Amino acid sequence: MAVPTVSAAPAPTPASGLAGPAVFDRGVPSPAPPVVVPVVPAQAPPAAVRCVPGPRRATRRSAFYGNLRRPLYPVIKSESVDPVRNPYAPGAGQRPPELAGRDRELQQFEVVLERVARGRPERSMVLTGLRGVGKTVLLNTFKSMAMQRLWGTGKIEARPDQSIRRPVAAAMHMAIRELAPRHRAPERIEEFLGVLKAFAMRDPAAAKGTSHWSPGIDVPAARGRADSGDLEIDLTELFVDAAGVATDLGVGIALFIDEMQDVQAPDVSALCAACHELSQSGGPLIVVGAGLPHLPSVLSASKSYSERLFRYARIDRLDRDAADLALIVPAGREDVEFTPDALDALYEAADGYPYFVQAYGKVAWDLAPRSPITAEDIKVSAPEAEEELAVGFFGSRYERATPAERDYMHAMAQLGDDPVPTAEVAEALGRKPSSLSPARDSLIKKGLIYSAERGVIGFTVPHFGRFLRAQPV
Ligand SMILES: Nc1ncnc2c1ncn2[C@@H]1O[C@H](COP(=O)(O)OP(=O)(O)OP(=O)(O)O)[C@@H](O)[C@H]1O
Ligand SMILES: [Mg+2]
Repeated sequence: MAVPTVSAAPAPTPASGLAGPAVFDRGVPSPAPPVVVPVVPAQAPPAAVRCVPGPRRATRRSAFYGNLRRPLYPVIKSESVDPVRNPYAPGAGQRPPELAGRDRELQQFEVVLERVARGRPERSMVLTGLRGVGKTVLLNTFKSMAMQRLWGTGKIEARPDQSIRRPVAAAMHMAIRELAPRHRAPERIEEFLGVLKAFAMRDPAAAKGTSHWSPGIDVPAARGRADSGDLEIDLTELFVDAAGVATDLGVGIALFIDEMQDVQAPDVSALCAACHELSQSGGPLIVVGAGLPHLPSVLSASKSYSERLFRYARIDRLDRDAADLALIVPAGREDVEFTPDALDALYEAADGYPYFVQAYGKVAWDLAPRSPITAEDIKVSAPEAEEELAVGFFGSRYERATPAERDYMHAMAQLGDDPVPTAEVAEALGRKPSSLSPARDSLIKKGLIYSAERGVIGFTVPHFGRFLRAQPV
């Protein structure tokens, strides 16, 4: 019986007119090109070829392969789902083979870049969403877009126990290094590097003599600029000077901050104030953030005007069409197809969460005997994918919680999958809400739960409640 299949040709192009995210990228390896020439055939080469020893013969072997590649491939491809060519990429910040369903955000960021470069007033962007929805991937893509426009770029990943001073200094150093070779006045760059060094050296840890850290900048530190020790003043001066260097070149500077909810409270306040100051002067420097869903409340708790500084883009699950594209476009490049039933089953399992799409797609590909991948293949492969998620995605996070924190999360899980009132969690545990505050606060700090509105708490990890309900208490 002929099985109906869904394939990817032709590969879609984002509405922005950019030929897919691959064109933005410079620093990250590009995904497979759309036209695939199989270097490694799925089936074993003929015995006569495999047994030929010696280096000279090896050369002849490649020539032999080269000749056979074209006639053999149509025969091999119809049957093969070669694990070596598995395109799916479950991982943290791992570039997906197809960045599906994010055209709107990409277009919005294009506009931000264009407006900032022209000196127009513009709010920067902050991406928020649950674990594994693709915030880091999108942030990296934004970075590539800025680099594509010859902007200077730098990126940091915030940590709850660390001031942003040094990471920001290192990121700004990166950004300026990108711009420096194109600047006609080396003394302007040197001047800025002096200010940057002064900023970096004003780190409180360094001042106490507890650190021998050096920012790796060869010019002497400037005096009287960005070195007051007050992060708000210093960041503002640093940003204004950096924006000045970018203005000389008619470009901008973008500083990307991942896990932004982990920036310490005084540093958030300083960062917002510096961005505010800069937005008033129209300097071409933007701070682009990504973080968990409660990031907007973290920012507004620190500065009430933060909503006017940033445009919040909530990054969510992929809808059905996008989730299908995330699977079939990369498969199409390898001449592998899915039946519609297989896509139904995959959507049901992955629920549109990008990490799950990659995880289920990867295992289904590895276990499917041939193309097209069918619903039966998904049924067979799903337990293995779930097992991998249980260990890698859920288990590794669960391990980080103490017994008291685990009790708290189990109580949350029993109340359902949506965010729940903290009072109900306390009631379920038969405890006073105040006595549970340490466990709750520590879980928030560990990034396992979040509180987007007062008195309500939710899991940062999608499907975590389901995972916990399946665990022995
Ligand atoms: N638009 C997309 N289409 C397909 N796959 C995607 C998409 N975005 C992300 N992915 C995949 O999802 C996975 C998670 O992405 P990423 O690490 O960016 O998530 P995240 O939101 O930063 O998660 P975390 O909060 O844990 O840092 C990666 O394997 C990535 O390849
Ligand atoms: Mg991330």
